[in-house]
Order: sequence, then structure tokens, then C-alpha cells
Amino acid sequence: MKKFLIVANWKMNPKSLAEAKKLFNSISAKIKNAKRVEVVICPPFVYLSSLASQQDPSSAISFGGQSCFWENPPTGGGAFTGEVSPLMLKNLGCQYVIVGHSERRRHQKETDEMVNKKIKAALKAKLKAILCIDKISQLGRDLKGISNNDFKNIIVAYEPLFAVGTGKFCSPKKAKNIRQLIRKKLGENINVLYGGSANSNNASSYLREAKMQGLLVGGASLNPREFLRIVRNAEEI
Ligand code: PGA
Repeated sequence: MKKFLIVANWKMNPKSLAEAKKLFNSISAKIKNAKRVEVVICPPFVYLSSLASQQDPSSAISFGGQSCFWENPPTGGGAFTGEVSPLMLKNLGCQYVIVGHSERRRHQKETDEMVNKKIKAALKAKLKAILCIDKISQLGRDLKGISNNDFKNIIVAYEPLFAVGTGKFCSPKKAKNIRQLIRKKLGENINVLYGGSANSNNASSYLREAKMQGLLVGGASLNPREFLRIVRNAEEI
């Protein structure tokens, strides 16, 4: 049985490294014995190196970036002010990167073409890409030119816009239906996560009823007790 993937997207939080360390430590101390769950912590870039360096290699925690740039120059760097390359993330110890999050599509005006280039750059750096979509129709554009062989390194997160950061509930039935459509399009082996106001009350229904491979958790990942409850729910399935 594959492990559930519970991804913590901290977004632009918390406000200091000290708080980030506290949040990380309160989570990592409690999931040492997780067997059925892999937890991926995606902090802001500025905290990644510090958190990743205090990581116990035997723990169930992996790290991910919340985004990356689409250029991945062979030299590992380039004249792209303000950007972070997939290779930099890889070299810091990340295994994952979130791509195409709806907040970036909205605020940074990221297009499907940019998202597509980012996925290709991430794969080249041997990162797993967590592709966020809100509509099935985005898949064709976001994955254009990416071969089926690479799908094992792509995880699709279905994040309905109305539910992201709103506290609004997407029915597990609808999530299940979308998961089936994604698998129909990309093959039965593609891993699909649910994201959008996931919390400890609804986590089990997305994992059990909607048969999601995991969750992308925003707001609830900033509250260690709530986040640990979500992880525990997954462990118990
Ligand atoms: P939310 O965010 O859990 O706060 O809705 C999810 C996400 O943006 O990935």
C-alpha cells in the first residue's frame, strides 16, 4: 500500500524564522513513527535551508518549495533577479515543488505556459512536481510535451478555487469524480491530492470516500494540533 502524501503549504507564513522552527519542531516531534503517511513541509524559501538542515533523515518529513523558476540553467544559476531555481531547491534537500498554485496564477499572473515550463524545469532537476489545477482543461496545457514516463514524478492536486482559503466545503463526491477524470486522462497510476480548506473534520472523507492519495493543506497546516490530527486521520485509514 502506497503512503498518503500530506503536504503542508505554509504560504507566506509565519513571520519569523524562530516561529517557523517552532512550528516545524512541534510537527516533526510527533510524526516520527508515521508509517502510512509522508508529510511534505513547504515553507517560504527563506526558511527552507534552516529547517532542512535540522532534519532527521529517518523522519517521515520531506521538504518542498512553494514554487520555482522555469529556467534551470546547466550552470545552476543565471540573471533572474528574485527567482529560485529548481536545482537550488534540490540542492537544499527538497524532493518536491508546488507548481501552478491558484494564488500564483492570480497574483503573479502565472499562465499555463509558465506552469508547463516550470514543471519541465522541476523534472529536469529531479524534483517531483505537485501541479495544482482547478479545472481538468488545464491539464492538457500544463502538461504539454511531457511524456507519460514522467507522470510518476507528477502529482496532481485538485484545488477547487471556491474552496481554497475560504473554509468552503467541496463534497468528497465531487472530488472523487474529478479524481476519476484526472486518472482517465493521465492514467491510473497518477497520484491525485485534494486541496481547499482541508481540515481534521473532512480529511478522512477525502482520503477514504474520494480515494485521494493525499491532501494539500494550507491554513490548517499552520496549527500544529490541527495538522497532526489530519496526519493521524490518514494514519488510521
Ligand atoms: P487552504 O489552502 O487549505 O487554506 O484552503 C490550500 C492551498 O492553498 O493549497
